[in-house]
Amino acid sequence: MMGTSIFSQGQQTIWAAMVSACRYLVLLAVLWSLAACGVATVQASTDYQTITPSPDGIGRVYLGREIAQTMGHQGAGWLDRPSRVLQERPQAAIAALDLHPTDIVADIGAGTGYFARRMAPLVPQGRVIAVDIQPEMLALLKAELDTKGIQNVEPVLGQLDSPNLPPNSIDLALMVDAYHEFAYPREVMQGVVAALKPGGRVVLAEYRAENPMVMIKRLHKMSVAQVRREMAAVGLTWVKTDDSLPEQHLLFFQRPA
Ligand SMILES: C[S@@+](CC[C@H](N)C(=O)[O-])C[C@H]1O[C@@H](n2cnc3c(N)ncnc32)[C@H](O)[C@@H]1O
Repeated sequence: MMGTSIFSQGQQTIWAAMVSACRYLVLLAVLWSLAACGVATVQASTDYQTITPSPDGIGRVYLGREIAQTMGHQGAGWLDRPSRVLQERPQAAIAALDLHPTDIVADIGAGTGYFARRMAPLVPQGRVIAVDIQPEMLALLKAELDTKGIQNVEPVLGQLDSPNLPPNSIDLALMVDAYHEFAYPREVMQGVVAALKPGGRVVLAEYRAENPMVMIKRLHKMSVAQVRREMAAVGLTWVKTDDSLPEQHLLFFQRPA
């Protein structure tokens, strides 16, 4: 008869049990592969570890360093403090960059443009791209550019994990007192490296972590060894460390040509 089973009732019961066991195994296999995907996702993000945040940290650790909290735009006045000229000697730092008039320079974490504004006259046929993640900082920077009539500084709104720069477009990326507070340093630096022209340079100014006399919060300072470790992780070649500034390291790197 159509639709009648060829098995006895006992056999049907066994068959039903086997089918249900098979379904269970299939379900287990699906769950196992989903779990495997989950493991892969976690593995992809093992660049960072999570800890209880320090008072000035975000609780995210990258290559052994806890990332510092971002300086809010409410503190922007501190960036233009007059004492900075003696503490950081910005003109000496900029002279050490050896800029060429046609250079395209990205100031990543530009804040109010303290360095971008000072570099602009040295690249009259080029320009400075001032990247920051805080629109309020960029608004302050624009106001300063308008007041001073500076026309070759271009503000760009970055993202926590990207400088938002086109590939192969910049000669130099400068980060002054900024890199240590990038929430996703590996991703930002991968974007920076992609934005560099072959042979392009990266320069970081960071307060010296090795020196306890440098009165800056611990997570807002970096050691030479740590900076070199983190730049090597994104394929940059160390060129030199200039320690002629009063309290900061100036570290030079290059994208291999
Ligand atoms: C301490 S301020 C230094 C500003 C400027 N470089 C100077 O020396 O005056 C650090 C700046 O980095 C910016 N910043 C933090 N994370 C960033 C990121 N992922 N990309 C770009 N800028 C970032 C902050 O918004 C802040 O304006």
